[in-house]
Amino acid sequence: TSLRNEASKKDILIGSGAINPMYLNDPEFAAVLANQFNSLSPENEMKWSFINPTKGHYNWDTIDRLVNFAEDNNMVVKGHGLISSCCNPDFLLNITHPTAFHTAMKTHFEAIMHRYDGKIDRWDVVTEALKTQGGGLNNNNFYQVLGPGYIADAFRIARAAAPDAKLFINENLVESLPGKRQELYNLVSSFVAKGVPIDGIALQMHITEVAPKPGVITEMVNSYKALGLEVAIAELDVHTLDNAVETDIYGAVVSEALDAGITDISFWGFTDKHAYTWVQGAKPLMFDQCYKPKSEFYATHAALTNF
Ligand code: G3I
Repeated sequence: TSLRNEASKKDILIGSGAINPMYLNDPEFAAVLANQFNSLSPENEMKWSFINPTKGHYNWDTIDRLVNFAEDNNMVVKGHGLISSCCNPDFLLNITHPTAFHTAMKTHFEAIMHRYDGKIDRWDVVTEALKTQGGGLNNNNFYQVLGPGYIADAFRIARAAAPDAKLFINENLVESLPGKRQELYNLVSSFVAKGVPIDGIALQMHITEVAPKPGVITEMVNSYKALGLEVAIAELDVHTLDNAVETDIYGAVVSEALDAGITDISFWGFTDKHAYTWVQGAKPLMFDQCYKPKSEFYATHAALTNF
């Protein structure tokens, strides 16, 4: 039983994010990843301080490894972490002049996007631009030095560096917080009105207590479609501590997403194996610690089959 077989028949990208290339040393991990998914993205390894810890020095090996693995297994890669709310290196944080900071951002984007030109064609350009609970922009280092315009600037730089790639703004909790959902919509629709190059929104969907209300995903897809944009799911996982509830949420979210027209769904990892998921103490993913498929997996597979 394979998610990717079912998804590929229907032109759906079904992916696992949170792939630390080190995990590929584990043959079972690598086998499940390649058998089940047709897309993957790194966990932290493309975030600024990981890939470019000091000025001019890039750790290409880790991401090259992911890209090569994807190529060998006929998978695609999504770039994650060009701008994230964590993980910025000291050399960047020490830049206080806006022009120099902007140049550093451009240099960074160009280095990464040019290296993976033709190999990575979907990018989370800015992750977590909004405050976690909504109510304004995150006061991150980019905001502090460049002001609110850094987001549009990031998209302009990204489009120039990778003209054929799809560019996403990646955000958390918008499916469960109506106010934040509206804020993201206002921000993105203002980009469209100003001609800022953006292709869609990537919903993280780290689901804790509550699943999104039925209809919310569909409503978002429709409202962004009216702007000419796409909605993707980028980091789905469910941490409720109740297996039956988790299973229902996996099934419901994936079904509604597919019915609404979403063609790009990624999970934030796939195995509950200790240290392979960022949520310690929970079992948020589709495979257990021994790579055995859980009921969450079968619910997802059924949603893909029935679509
Ligand atoms: O690499 C250091 C290590 O040297 C040090 O000894 C250790 C001590 O704590 O920390 C290590 O860094 C940690 C890093 O993961 C690598 O393991 C950081 O502390 C830790 O904060 C970091 O967490 C990551 C988190 O993003 C950072 O914001 C998670 O692994 C990662 O799964 C998570 O992913 C994010 C997405 O990028 C964006 N959406 C939300 C999602 C979950 O938070």
